[in-house]
Amino acid sequence: MDNVYVGIIGLGAIAETGHICHLHDSESVTIAAVVDLDINRAESIAEKYQIPHYFKEAETMFKQVTIDAVIICTPNQTHIPIAKLAVDQGIHVLMEKPIGTDLQDVNDYLELAKAKKVLTMVGMTHRFRHDTGILKKFAEQKAFGDIYYAKAKLFRRRGTPKGWFTNKALSGGGAMMDIGVHVLDLAWWLLGNPQVQSITGKTLNVLGNYQTKYTSSWESKNKQLNAEHVFDVEDFSSAWIRFKNGSVLSLEIAWAVNGEQDGNIDIELFGNKGGATLSPLTIFKEEDGLLSKTTPLYEKTEPFKAEIEHFIECVRTNTTPLIDGSDGYEVLKMIHGIYDSSTQNKEVSFD
Ligand SMILES: NC(=O)c1ccc[n+]([C@@H]2O[C@H](COP(=O)([O-])OP(=O)(O)OC[C@H]3O[C@@H](n4cnc5c(N)ncnc54)[C@H](O)[C@@H]3O)[C@@H](O)[C@H]2O)c1
Repeated sequence: MDNVYVGIIGLGAIAETGHICHLHDSESVTIAAVVDLDINRAESIAEKYQIPHYFKEAETMFKQVTIDAVIICTPNQTHIPIAKLAVDQGIHVLMEKPIGTDLQDVNDYLELAKAKKVLTMVGMTHRFRHDTGILKKFAEQKAFGDIYYAKAKLFRRRGTPKGWFTNKALSGGGAMMDIGVHVLDLAWWLLGNPQVQSITGKTLNVLGNYQTKYTSSWESKNKQLNAEHVFDVEDFSSAWIRFKNGSVLSLEIAWAVNGEQDGNIDIELFGNKGGATLSPLTIFKEEDGLLSKTTPLYEKTEPFKAEIEHFIECVRTNTTPLIDGSDGYEVLKMIHGIYDSSTQNKEVSFD
């Protein structure tokens, strides 16, 4: 397949800043159609990027336009229902994170996709950064020996997104589901995707709908969903995850916290032969009795561009993506474990 015909569903903040521009610039892609519940937005995006078809509902696109792949950028709760429609027609899927909100629904989707032999990539953008790619290679080559402990953190001082993100019915969860999913996926991938054994988690809604002046944050483009102002999710979450190989991950996530703004994903890996921190990427070793600390040099990438190029190449060559649906499922399983542990006030175990 030389040219991939793509449909984009959900034309909000991330579709515009992360996906459409790169798809539009790609020589291997034709954007065949776009879909958004807000038909005016669909029309204006179609006009701006000279896309021949636009629709209000995904079903209509699937009936009327021939496409090879879809990119789903709608609110979390709608990912799986739309993805199921796509895979049922043999259409490959790249969906924004998280893969979905309900584990059984995600499992059903993955079964269907397997039967239909289509790809189920999830947009874990941070795996496509140069620094994380370098770190992954070091870990795979056992530069750190066996990694027994990892710490991963993302704290924002006042960075709670506005709109449906704080409405559990649409988002499936708060800070952990929204930004924690990136951090957890990245740390778990660097650890070598170990199987989870047990989780102790705590989630809290501490600052909620704060009225802090002169701050801004990510905002959904769907004004109707934003107007509802529902806030029934956590803005802070912390967890301790034990894996069956003996390693442990300590995770801290906050949309808003009374402490130092970080905004970057911080990861520390501790192995018996070395260690590393991110960001900036720093490698700690002991060689011939000498301690060293090195900071590899690399150019920064545009992760969304790399992610999309990877997906398109996987579609063209029918190759399993770097992050497919089964990884998305495992990460969602751990997020649910964190929520369950917090609700039950005890450690939860997995078979
Ligand atoms: N990878 C990242 O770093 C990153 C960053 C932000 C958001 N996201 C993810 O991207 C997705 C979208 O987030 P956003 O910030 O763009 O939200 P948004 O609200 O700005 O955009 C969502 C769009 O989908 C449309 N929509 C809603 N339901 C629909 C349906 N059933 N069919 C068609 N269109 C529908 C809305 O009208 C809206 O235009 C979420 O899953 C979010 O978690 C990822």
